[in-house]
Amino acid sequence: MPTPVSIVALSGSLRRGSLNTALLRAAAATAGNGVQIDVATPRGIPLYDGDLEASEGIPEAVSELKERIVAADGLMIATPEYNNSMPGVLKNAVDWLSRPPKDIPRVFRDRPVAVTGASPGGFGTTLAQSSWLPVLRGLRMRPWFGGRLMLSKAGDAFADDGTLTDEERRKQLAEFVAGFAAFIRAGKAG
Ligand code: FNR
Repeated sequence: MPTPVSIVALSGSLRRGSLNTALLRAAAATAGNGVQIDVATPRGIPLYDGDLEASEGIPEAVSELKERIVAADGLMIATPEYNNSMPGVLKNAVDWLSRPPKDIPRVFRDRPVAVTGASPGGFGTTLAQSSWLPVLRGLRMRPWFGGRLMLSKAGDAFADDGTLTDEERRKQLAEFVAGFAAFIRAGKAG
């Protein structure tokens, strides 16, 4: 039995029909071999406002997500692409998660992270995924670059039961999750 690995999978979309959330749900459903995936979204997280933080502290939805991340071994991000970059709701969530700064080491530092994404377009969030790199670097995370998964033409990629209809894509997703889990396990062992 391989070492158990837990991953928080954060989707960058609030949409009920989100392709990115669907991708993470498909990942969670197919994960096996000791890998557990907990899908999260930025739902309930307000816009970052320093005055709100000063008067009311960290919002409950942020604290709750923070603790889910802290309790997990790794973070998987599925980022939509908006105007060739990351979407505001997801950046806003990460900005809140980085408050107060004294929590950054506990929440982010050296935490394994993998970025993926889904888009109805032909490039599958290539630019959005790259736009996260300076953020991950600033937070001193440990990105996994061993695999890439850009789910392009994702509009009709999922069956009604949430599975990916295309066998090749199912294989790519399984390999992505397994590769990231192996990266996490190697870090735990070392
Ligand atoms: C988009 N979309 C988009 N897609 C893409 O591949 N490149 C892009 O630059 C953009 N830009 C963009 C801007 C804005 C404001 C919106 C609302 C949308 C389309 C986007 O990929 C699509 O709406 C996805 O379905 C969003 O992800 P979820 O919500 O399905 O997870």
